[in-house]
Amino acid sequence: MEQNELKKLVGEAAVDYIHDGMIVGLGTGSTVKYMVDALGKKVQEEGIKIIGVPTSERTEKQANSLGIITKGVDDVDHIDLTIDGADQIDENFQGIKGGGAAHLWEKIVAINSEKNMWIVDESKMTQQLGSFPLPLEVTPYGSKQLFKRLQKLNYNPEFRMADGHHVLTDSKNYVIDLHMHRINDPFALAAELDSMTGIVEHGLFLDLVNTVIVGRPNGPEILNAR
Ligand code: A5P
Repeated sequence: MEQNELKKLVGEAAVDYIHDGMIVGLGTGSTVKYMVDALGKKVQEEGIKIIGVPTSERTEKQANSLGIITKGVDDVDHIDLTIDGADQIDENFQGIKGGGAAHLWEKIVAINSEKNMWIVDESKMTQQLGSFPLPLEVTPYGSKQLFKRLQKLNYNPEFRMADGHHVLTDSKNYVIDLHMHRINDPFALAAELDSMTGIVEHGLFLDLVNTVIVGRPNGPEILNAR
């Protein structure tokens, strides 16, 4: 089975967890895109009333085009469940996100959700985080100085560029990817990055997810994290 078929499989499986009346955080990325497609279909065919809280302008646009009502994170009093993708998940259910430059909004929605679910194809599951570059959302102001500090720490930073320009997040910040290859202590690294001025948010999502749906060729596997 191809990677995209596995993404579609988990996207469709996740929609079974969404019921009438729920407020649902909608993640970002190619896997979530399949989930939002399936949710749009469910809303139209079954007439369920849900409110989506999108984690990016892209997801908001897609959801609205399918008739899903959305609200901003500050306009809801709770979020029942957020369904999002991930770039890597280790054996302790710690994750890296931000491959799509949306991890700041994704983390804000995630920490304000009662439950979090990640949907991934099996290639995202790993023993140790780090072979996927760790994204940082950083303020443009001072970002070259911050870059030098990250170089001195041997974190192999790289500005994320597209067509010769900085990739901009929905909050109009830059992205720096850290090519660390192995992250031995995600909690220590997260604490260090949290303390560095200029880093708005890093892509380590620690102790956040409750359920992971992994796309395997023989069907979706449901893993309960906590
Ligand atoms: C967006 O910034 C990311 O956190 C995505 O959720 C993550 O990159 C997974 O994306 P895909 O489903 O496209 O692999």
